[in-house]
Amino acid sequence: MQIEGARCWLVGASSGLGAALARELDAAGAVVAVSARRQERLQELTAGTGMTPVAVDVTDAESVRAGFEQVRSALGGLDVLVYCAGTWQVSDVRDWDQESFEQHVSTNLLGLGQCLDVTLPTLREQRRGAVVGIASVAAYRGVPGADYYGPTKAAVVNLLEALRASLRTDGVRVMSVLPGFLRSEMTDAADFPQPFKITAEDAAARIVRGMRQDRTVLVFPRRMRALMTGARMVPAAVWPRLTPVLRLPWVRRL
Ligand SMILES: NC(=O)c1ccc[n+]([C@@H]2O[C@H](COP(=O)([O-])OP(=O)(O)OC[C@H]3O[C@@H](n4cnc5c(N)ncnc54)[C@H](OP(=O)(O)O)[C@@H]3O)[C@@H](O)[C@H]2O)c1
Repeated sequence: MQIEGARCWLVGASSGLGAALARELDAAGAVVAVSARRQERLQELTAGTGMTPVAVDVTDAESVRAGFEQVRSALGGLDVLVYCAGTWQVSDVRDWDQESFEQHVSTNLLGLGQCLDVTLPTLREQRRGAVVGIASVAAYRGVPGADYYGPTKAAVVNLLEALRASLRTDGVRVMSVLPGFLRSEMTDAADFPQPFKITAEDAAARIVRGMRQDRTVLVFPRRMRALMTGARMVPAAVWPRLTPVLRLPWVRRL
Protein backbone atom coordinates (compact mmCIF):
# COMPACT_ATOMS: atom_id res chain seq x y z
CA MET A 1 0.00 0.00 0.00
CA GLN A 2 1.17 3.50 -0.69
CA ILE A 3 1.69 5.44 2.55
CA GLU A 4 2.43 8.85 1.06
CA GLY A 5 -0.87 10.75 0.88
CA ALA A 6 -2.91 7.90 2.43
CA ARG A 7 -5.65 9.22 4.73
CA CYS A 8 -5.25 7.22 7.93
CA TRP A 9 -7.42 7.10 11.05
CA LEU A 10 -5.45 5.77 13.99
CA VAL A 11 -7.67 4.71 16.86
CA GLY A 12 -5.89 4.27 20.20
CA ALA A 13 -3.11 6.73 19.49
CA SER A 14 -2.71 8.76 22.70
CA SER A 15 0.22 6.64 23.96
CA GLY A 16 2.47 3.65 23.31
CA LEU A 17 2.31 1.90 19.98
CA GLY A 18 -0.53 4.03 18.57
CA ALA A 19 1.33 7.29 19.23
CA ALA A 20 4.56 5.88 17.75
CA LEU A 21 2.65 4.63 14.72
CA ALA A 22 1.02 8.04 14.23
CA ARG A 23 4.43 9.73 14.25
CA GLU A 24 5.83 7.13 11.85
CA LEU A 25 2.93 7.47 9.40
CA ASP A 26 3.02 11.26 9.61
CA ALA A 27 6.76 11.26 8.90
CA ALA A 28 6.17 8.92 5.94
CA GLY A 29 3.79 11.43 4.36
CA ALA A 30 0.41 9.99 5.34
CA VAL A 31 -2.48 12.30 6.24
CA VAL A 32 -3.22 11.27 9.80
CA ALA A 33 -6.09 11.68 12.27
CA VAL A 34 -5.57 10.31 15.79
CA SER A 35 -8.17 9.24 18.33
CA ALA A 36 -8.39 8.05 21.94
CA ARG A 37 -10.10 9.28 25.10
CA ARG A 38 -7.29 11.45 26.56
CA GLN A 39 -7.64 14.70 24.65
CA GLU A 40 -4.60 16.40 26.20
CA ARG A 41 -2.36 13.52 25.06
CA LEU A 42 -3.73 13.84 21.53
CA GLN A 43 -3.07 17.60 21.59
CA GLU A 44 0.55 16.99 22.71
CA LEU A 45 1.05 14.37 20.00
CA THR A 46 -0.30 16.52 17.19
CA ALA A 47 1.09 19.93 18.23
CA GLY A 48 3.25 21.37 15.45
CA THR A 49 2.33 18.55 13.04
CA GLY A 50 -0.32 18.20 10.35
CA MET A 51 -2.11 15.49 12.34
CA THR A 52 -5.73 15.96 13.43
CA PRO A 53 -6.74 15.06 17.01
CA VAL A 54 -10.30 13.75 17.49
CA ALA A 55 -11.32 12.48 20.95
CA VAL A 56 -13.20 9.15 20.80
CA ASP A 57 -14.24 6.49 23.30
CA VAL A 58 -14.46 3.20 21.39
CA THR A 59 -16.86 1.73 23.94
CA ASP A 60 -19.42 4.41 23.03
CA ALA A 61 -21.05 3.91 19.61
CA GLU A 62 -22.17 7.54 19.32
CA SER A 63 -18.69 8.82 20.18
CA VAL A 64 -17.19 6.61 17.43
CA ARG A 65 -19.80 7.72 14.88
CA ALA A 66 -19.36 11.43 15.66
CA GLY A 67 -15.57 11.02 15.78
CA PHE A 68 -15.47 9.39 12.35
CA GLU A 69 -17.61 12.18 10.85
CA GLN A 70 -15.05 14.68 12.15
CA VAL A 71 -12.16 12.60 10.83
CA ARG A 72 -13.74 12.15 7.42
CA SER A 73 -14.36 15.83 6.96
CA ALA A 74 -10.89 16.80 8.26
CA LEU A 75 -9.10 14.29 5.98
CA GLY A 76 -11.50 14.60 3.06
CA GLY A 77 -12.22 10.83 3.19
CA LEU A 78 -10.51 7.72 4.51
CA ASP A 79 -8.09 5.18 3.07
CA VAL A 80 -6.79 3.29 6.10
CA LEU A 81 -8.29 2.41 9.49
CA VAL A 82 -5.66 1.39 12.06
CA TYR A 83 -7.25 -0.07 15.20
CA CYS A 84 -4.75 0.06 18.05
CA ALA A 85 -6.99 0.75 21.06
CA GLY A 86 -6.54 -1.83 23.75
CA THR A 87 -6.52 -2.59 27.43
CA TRP A 88 -4.86 -5.26 29.54
CA GLN A 89 -4.85 -5.92 33.25
CA VAL A 90 -3.33 -9.00 34.84
CA SER A 91 -6.17 -11.40 35.67
CA ASP A 92 -6.63 -14.22 38.15
CA VAL A 93 -9.73 -16.15 37.15
CA ARG A 94 -9.85 -17.96 40.47
CA ASP A 95 -11.40 -14.69 41.60
CA TRP A 96 -13.44 -13.93 38.46
CA ASP A 97 -13.88 -10.23 37.72
CA GLN A 98 -16.76 -9.86 35.28
CA GLU A 99 -16.36 -6.10 35.08
CA SER A 100 -12.73 -6.39 33.99
CA PHE A 101 -13.60 -9.13 31.51
CA GLU A 102 -16.31 -6.97 29.93
CA GLN A 103 -13.95 -4.01 29.78
CA HIS A 104 -11.43 -6.10 27.82
CA VAL A 105 -14.12 -7.32 25.44
CA SER A 106 -15.62 -3.87 24.84
CA THR A 107 -12.30 -2.11 24.27
CA ASN A 108 -10.29 -4.75 22.42
CA LEU A 109 -13.02 -6.44 20.37
CA LEU A 110 -16.31 -4.55 20.32
CA GLY A 111 -14.48 -1.24 19.83
CA LEU A 112 -13.00 -2.63 16.62
CA GLY A 113 -16.53 -3.56 15.59
CA GLN A 114 -17.73 0.00 16.26
CA CYS A 115 -14.96 1.39 14.06
CA LEU A 116 -15.65 -1.12 11.28
CA ASP A 117 -19.34 -0.27 11.47
CA VAL A 118 -18.70 3.38 10.64
CA THR A 119 -15.73 3.03 8.24
CA LEU A 120 -16.47 -0.03 6.10
CA PRO A 121 -19.21 1.62 4.01
CA THR A 122 -16.73 4.34 2.94
CA LEU A 123 -13.91 1.89 2.20
CA ARG A 124 -16.18 -0.52 0.31
CA GLU A 125 -17.86 2.23 -1.68
CA GLN A 126 -14.58 3.61 -2.99
CA ARG A 127 -13.39 0.00 -3.58
CA ARG A 128 -9.98 0.88 -2.15
CA GLY A 129 -8.42 1.03 1.26
CA ALA A 130 -7.17 -1.01 4.17
CA VAL A 131 -7.92 -2.10 7.70
CA VAL A 132 -4.94 -2.70 9.99
CA GLY A 133 -5.81 -4.43 13.26
CA ILE A 134 -3.40 -4.65 16.20
CA ALA A 135 -3.88 -7.99 17.95
CA SER A 136 -1.15 -9.75 20.00
CA VAL A 137 0.76 -13.03 20.19
CA ALA A 138 -1.41 -13.57 23.29
CA ALA A 139 -4.02 -14.68 20.74
CA TYR A 140 -2.14 -17.92 20.17
CA ARG A 141 -2.55 -19.73 23.51
CA GLY A 142 -4.63 -19.40 26.66
CA VAL A 143 -2.27 -18.17 29.35
CA PRO A 144 -3.00 -17.61 33.06
CA GLY A 145 -2.83 -13.89 33.78
CA ALA A 146 -4.03 -12.97 30.30
CA ASP A 147 -7.33 -14.84 30.74
CA TYR A 148 -9.43 -11.78 29.83
CA TYR A 149 -7.01 -10.22 27.34
CA GLY A 150 -6.02 -13.31 25.32
CA PRO A 151 -9.52 -14.30 24.19
CA THR A 152 -10.22 -10.79 22.90
CA LYS A 153 -7.04 -10.86 20.82
CA ALA A 154 -7.82 -14.37 19.53
CA ALA A 155 -11.24 -13.09 18.46
CA VAL A 156 -9.65 -10.07 16.75
CA VAL A 157 -7.32 -12.36 14.76
CA ASN A 158 -10.29 -14.51 13.74
CA LEU A 159 -12.42 -11.49 12.83
CA LEU A 160 -9.67 -9.93 10.72
CA GLU A 161 -9.17 -13.22 8.88
CA ALA A 162 -12.86 -13.50 8.06
CA LEU A 163 -12.96 -9.84 7.06
CA ARG A 164 -9.99 -10.34 4.72
CA ALA A 165 -11.85 -13.10 2.93
CA SER A 166 -15.16 -11.22 2.84
CA LEU A 167 -13.65 -7.98 1.51
CA ARG A 168 -11.40 -9.67 -1.03
CA THR A 169 -13.56 -8.59 -3.96
CA ASP A 170 -14.23 -5.11 -2.53
CA GLY A 171 -10.65 -3.90 -2.97
CA VAL A 172 -10.20 -3.50 0.80
CA ARG A 173 -7.06 -5.11 2.24
CA VAL A 174 -6.89 -6.39 5.81
CA MET A 175 -3.63 -6.69 7.75
CA SER A 176 -3.31 -8.45 11.11
CA VAL A 177 -0.51 -7.40 13.43
CA LEU A 178 0.53 -9.65 16.33
CA PRO A 179 3.29 -8.00 18.36
CA GLY A 180 5.13 -9.57 21.27
CA PHE A 181 6.00 -7.41 24.29
CA LEU A 182 6.66 -3.77 23.61
CA ARG A 183 7.43 -0.81 25.84
CA SER A 184 4.26 1.12 26.71
CA GLU A 185 2.09 2.20 29.60
CA MET A 186 0.27 -1.12 29.27
CA THR A 187 3.27 -3.26 30.17
CA ASP A 188 5.91 -0.96 31.70
CA ALA A 189 4.20 -0.87 35.10
CA ALA A 190 3.95 -4.67 35.28
CA ASP A 191 6.51 -6.35 37.53
CA PHE A 192 7.24 -9.56 35.65
CA PRO A 193 9.89 -10.39 33.06
CA GLN A 194 8.88 -9.57 29.50
CA PRO A 195 11.11 -11.46 27.07
CA PHE A 196 12.22 -10.03 23.74
CA LYS A 197 10.64 -6.64 24.57
CA ILE A 198 11.07 -3.97 21.89
CA THR A 199 10.32 -0.25 21.81
CA ALA A 200 7.04 1.13 20.49
CA GLU A 201 9.06 3.02 17.86
CA ASP A 202 10.68 -0.20 16.63
CA ALA A 203 7.26 -1.87 16.47
CA ALA A 204 5.78 1.11 14.60
CA ALA A 205 8.57 1.04 12.02
CA ARG A 206 7.98 -2.69 11.44
CA ILE A 207 4.25 -2.13 10.99
CA VAL A 208 4.65 0.72 8.49
CA ARG A 209 7.18 -1.40 6.57
CA GLY A 210 4.64 -4.22 6.59
CA MET A 211 1.94 -1.87 5.32
CA ARG A 212 4.17 -0.74 2.45
CA GLN A 213 4.84 -4.40 1.57
CA ASP A 214 1.13 -5.31 1.72
CA ARG A 215 1.82 -7.96 4.34
CA THR A 216 -1.21 -10.02 5.37
CA VAL A 217 -0.11 -11.07 8.85
CA LEU A 218 2.79 -9.58 10.77
CA VAL A 219 4.13 -11.34 13.89
CA PHE A 220 7.19 -9.90 15.65
CA PRO A 221 9.83 -9.87 17.02
CA ARG A 222 11.27 -12.99 15.40
CA ARG A 223 12.21 -14.74 18.66
CA MET A 224 8.73 -14.26 20.11
CA ARG A 225 7.23 -15.54 16.86
CA ALA A 226 9.41 -18.66 17.11
CA LEU A 227 8.45 -19.18 20.78
CA MET A 228 4.73 -18.85 20.08
CA THR A 229 4.92 -20.99 16.94
CA GLY A 230 6.35 -23.73 19.14
CA ALA A 231 3.74 -23.10 21.83
CA ARG A 232 0.94 -23.53 19.28
CA MET A 233 2.10 -27.06 18.57
CA VAL A 234 1.84 -28.22 22.18
CA PRO A 235 -1.20 -30.51 22.58
CA ALA A 236 -4.11 -28.97 24.54
CA ALA A 237 -3.94 -31.70 27.18
CA VAL A 238 -0.26 -30.97 27.84
CA TRP A 239 -0.46 -27.16 27.81
CA PRO A 240 -1.90 -26.65 31.34
CA ARG A 241 0.94 -28.69 32.83
CA LEU A 242 3.53 -26.97 30.69
CA THR A 243 2.74 -23.34 31.53
CA PRO A 244 4.08 -23.50 35.11
CA VAL A 245 7.03 -25.63 33.99
CA LEU A 246 7.96 -23.03 31.41
CA ARG A 247 7.58 -20.41 34.15
CA LEU A 248 5.90 -18.14 31.64
CA PRO A 249 6.13 -14.56 32.85
CA TRP A 250 2.40 -14.14 33.37
CA VAL A 251 2.28 -17.27 35.52
CA ARG A 252 4.96 -16.10 37.92
CA ARG A 253 2.75 -13.36 39.17
CA LEU A 254 -0.05 -15.71 40.26
N1 LIG B 1 2.39 -3.43 25.17
C1 LIG B 1 2.53 -4.66 24.66
O1 LIG B 1 3.41 -5.43 25.08
C2 LIG B 1 1.59 -5.14 23.58
C3 LIG B 1 1.84 -6.38 22.99
C4 LIG B 1 1.00 -6.83 21.98
C5 LIG B 1 -0.06 -6.06 21.57
N2 LIG B 1 -0.29 -4.84 22.15
C6 LIG B 1 -1.44 -4.08 21.68
O2 LIG B 1 -1.00 -2.83 21.18
C7 LIG B 1 -2.06 -1.88 21.29
C8 LIG B 1 -1.52 -0.61 21.93
O3 LIG B 1 -1.16 -0.89 23.26
P1 LIG B 1 0.06 -0.18 23.99
O4 LIG B 1 0.96 -1.25 24.44
O5 LIG B 1 0.60 0.92 23.14
O6 LIG B 1 -0.66 0.37 25.30
P2 LIG B 1 -1.15 1.83 25.73
O7 LIG B 1 -0.02 2.78 25.71
O8 LIG B 1 -1.88 1.61 27.00
O9 LIG B 1 -2.16 2.24 24.57
C9 LIG B 1 -3.50 1.87 24.54
C10 LIG B 1 -4.24 2.87 23.68
O10 LIG B 1 -5.62 2.47 23.61
C11 LIG B 1 -6.42 3.60 23.90
N3 LIG B 1 -7.69 3.22 24.46
C12 LIG B 1 -7.92 2.41 25.53
N4 LIG B 1 -9.24 2.37 25.79
C13 LIG B 1 -9.85 3.18 24.89
C14 LIG B 1 -11.20 3.58 24.66
N5 LIG B 1 -12.20 3.13 25.43
N6 LIG B 1 -11.46 4.44 23.64
C15 LIG B 1 -10.45 4.90 22.86
N7 LIG B 1 -9.16 4.57 23.03
C16 LIG B 1 -8.87 3.72 24.03
C17 LIG B 1 -5.58 4.40 24.90
O11 LIG B 1 -5.99 5.77 24.91
P3 LIG B 1 -6.88 6.48 26.07
O12 LIG B 1 -6.54 5.83 27.36
O13 LIG B 1 -6.45 7.90 25.96
O14 LIG B 1 -8.29 6.28 25.65
C18 LIG B 1 -4.20 4.27 24.27
O15 LIG B 1 -4.03 5.22 23.25
C19 LIG B 1 -3.16 -2.57 22.11
O16 LIG B 1 -4.16 -3.06 21.26
C20 LIG B 1 -2.42 -3.72 22.78
O17 LIG B 1 -3.28 -4.78 23.10
C21 LIG B 1 0.52 -4.36 23.14
